[in-house]
Amino acid sequence: MAKGFEEPDFFTDHSVLLDPYEALDAVRSQSSVRQMENHDFVMVTGFAEATAVLLDGEHFSSVIAAAGPTAPLPFVPEGDDITDQIAAHHHEFVGHETFLSFDGAEHSARRALLNKLFTPSRLRANELYMHDLADRMVRDVVAKGGCELMHDLATPYVTYVIADLLGVPEEDRAKITEILASAPLPGAVDDADAGASLAPLAEQVGGMFAGYILDRRANPRQDVMTDLATARFPDGSIPEVGELVMLAIFLFAAGQDTSAKLVGNSGDPSPDQQVCTHRR
Ligand code: HEM
Repeated sequence: MAKGFEEPDFFTDHSVLLDPYEALDAVRSQSSVRQMENHDFVMVTGFAEATAVLLDGEHFSSVIAAAGPTAPLPFVPEGDDITDQIAAHHHEFVGHETFLSFDGAEHSARRALLNKLFTPSRLRANELYMHDLADRMVRDVVAKGGCELMHDLATPYVTYVIADLLGVPEEDRAKITEILASAPLPGAVDDADAGASLAPLAEQVGGMFAGYILDRRANPRQDVMTDLATARFPDGSIPEVGELVMLAIFLFAAGQDTSAKLVGNSGDPSPDQQVCTHRR
């Protein structure tokens, strides 16, 4: 350990969470691959090193992708190669339901289910929807004379866009947006409830998706939700309804927080140009 170096706490120090760049630089200046002092894991901060790890599915597993490295392993590691132990205990890892936590062929099979949603024609239609929605939402805000950026624009905008991508019927989109809007705002790291209320919200949205998928399997029609409901794994087998529900919830989680934060961080117009306030 270098003398005088104080290891930043990436997990509980809110000042680090709000602005991690200085802390990352400090850790990187020690070494781009570093055994942390206060945690039993290695932190990789170098671009080349991180890329090498991420591309090396033979030696590294994604099983902790959802919960991160701080959750304890659900078994005592034996030997240098714990591939079989990870496979045997996969269902005990936090967030094991999301397809991010699968490796190799199992990950590819689940990823393939999404391919029907990401065809060029679907993305083009989604893009047109985005332009139209942005126009409508911004006009509303201007007509009202202002807004709170994250709450009134960024977060609902992203929910509507993902709902469109997933083929949620138009009449239900406001309801899903309302359910997800009751979650803590993206980036609300100081909110005591942050994260706490997400499970019931996922349950409500999941219930709606299970309904859509069962309905489309019983009564297929020409829509995106039918494509999702009838998607098959590459080996031709039919996914469980729960598997597709998790996929839909994952897309909301993956696209929601990330993209809403991106909107929140985009530009900082001078106060006289500002229509919306923005809590940081
Ligand atoms: C600024 C916006 C976004 C950022 C910064 C971002 C970031 C990321 C990151 C870091 C991962 C890798 C996670 C891991 O493997 O542990 C990921 C995966 C993924 N993201 Fe995003 N994301 C964004 C927007 C979106 C949107 C809008 C969607 C779709 C609606 C989306 C869908 C996905 C999917 C499906 C994966 C999993 C890919 C796979 O494992 O095959 N993301 N994203």
